[in-house]
Amino acid sequence: MSIIEPQESTLYQQLAETFASAIHNGTWAPGSRLPAIRRVAGAHQVSVNTVLNAWQVLEDRGLIEARPQSGYFVRTVLPALAHPRKHLTEVTSPSSEKLDLIDTVFAAQNHPDYTNISLACPQNTDFYPVVKLSRITASLLRHHPEIIGRYALPPGNERLRREVARRTMDLGFSLTSDAITLTHGCMEALQLALRAVTRPGDCVGLETPTYFYLFPLLASLGLKSVEIPTDPERGLSLDALEMLLREKRLNALIVMPNVQNPLGCSMTLADKKRLAQQVNQYQIPLIEDGLYSELQFCWPLTPAVKAFDRDGWVMYCSSFTKTLAPDFRLGWIAAGRFTAEIARLKAVSSMAEPALLSETLAQFLASGGYDHHLRSLRRRYAAQLDEARGLIARHFPRGTRATLPQGGFVFWVELPGTVDSVTLFHRLLQEKICVTPGELYTLSDRCHNALRLSCCYPFDERYCYALKRTGALACDMSGLAPGA
Ligand SMILES: Cc1ncc(COP(=O)(O)O)c(C=O)c1O
Repeated sequence: MSIIEPQESTLYQQLAETFASAIHNGTWAPGSRLPAIRRVAGAHQVSVNTVLNAWQVLEDRGLIEARPQSGYFVRTVLPALAHPRKHLTEVTSPSSEKLDLIDTVFAAQNHPDYTNISLACPQNTDFYPVVKLSRITASLLRHHPEIIGRYALPPGNERLRREVARRTMDLGFSLTSDAITLTHGCMEALQLALRAVTRPGDCVGLETPTYFYLFPLLASLGLKSVEIPTDPERGLSLDALEMLLREKRLNALIVMPNVQNPLGCSMTLADKKRLAQQVNQYQIPLIEDGLYSELQFCWPLTPAVKAFDRDGWVMYCSSFTKTLAPDFRLGWIAAGRFTAEIARLKAVSSMAEPALLSETLAQFLASGGYDHHLRSLRRRYAAQLDEARGLIARHFPRGTRATLPQGGFVFWVELPGTVDSVTLFHRLLQEKICVTPGELYTLSDRCHNALRLSCCYPFDERYCYALKRTGALACDMSGLAPGA
């Protein structure tokens, strides 16, 4: 693998970051007008274009808005959630109550009559390039019907792997197609990675809160976990990690450095470099879940930790589930020094990937339509996130806080401490509304008043009603009036 050193952030990104921090820390309050563009240019010794580009970044992130003939204003935002969880929690396996709760939420999320405001799966065909994909599939079946009579054995369709390899440059690293194995979604990639580097009884470091399906996955492999404090804005605590590594308490680590699920945060460039350096120094496999990386609200994208992986200890996992077609179930893993073992494990896990769908995706990616599609998704999610946060600010109980995601469509909401989110979940289910209680995202019991919400749905009356109703019930349970 050759490593491309990602460029340091450009001038306009630095300016955008300066103003984003000032907005987050309240220097520029919601509703306030930003200074005139020429004034900012003069004060920061940059060109007017640089300021305009920085304003574009802030607009894309939903932090400011242009008002005709008036200038740029800071949008109404909820107070950000900024207290990291401080404790390290080591757990052998999830309780049966936790597994039951996961099953209940899963069943509710799959129920066609429920209004879902938390499932992390875009719910309308206009989130996907359906027409283009169906044209390619139909043409393949017409002209190459023999394709459905083949096994696409590991490492999988060569053209798709080449396209995936080409795209890794946007995340700061560069692979050849033979470094990539196709998988059945990101979930299989994570599972293969764990199986390649752990044995039953081993201990895996996780962010907290984290993607809840990791708990049954670890349990199914006989693995223990340690939950490592994770800052809602900066991600994993590397000091806590350093302590665990020094004490040799970890056999592997799963992290989402870009657009963490459920918090939506991304690690800084410096932290990503440090994390890569730590796992290389201590020779501990890092399973990097990059599922939402291409949905970051910035361009160029910020790099993956894999970009700084000197000796192949980072296993990068992703899929096209969140951006192109969840039903295709196509994912991939770039497993560094573990690549050969992954291909062997893949064969005994699910043997092959569907050749028709792999070739469809390969042709779609080669056609160049993906970048355009991603740009429109990023704009849409940034705007919808901002709208959802606005609704929460108005309809949830006073004192509610929410994360400010740096990409994707999921976010984390902390309700006042008196609101138990599992009770809220059950009360909402009676009204056919589905949310995900925070307790699912940790094996410790510290998220009882949190919810993971999502805004990858058409922003219609049904979605807005469900969000407002969630707020109304939370107000009811807390005895607090609505309003940020
Ligand atoms: C963080 C994270 N990793 C992995 C997965 C599984 O992805 P896939 O559907 O591609 O298997 C999900 C699904 O929601 C997820 O949110």
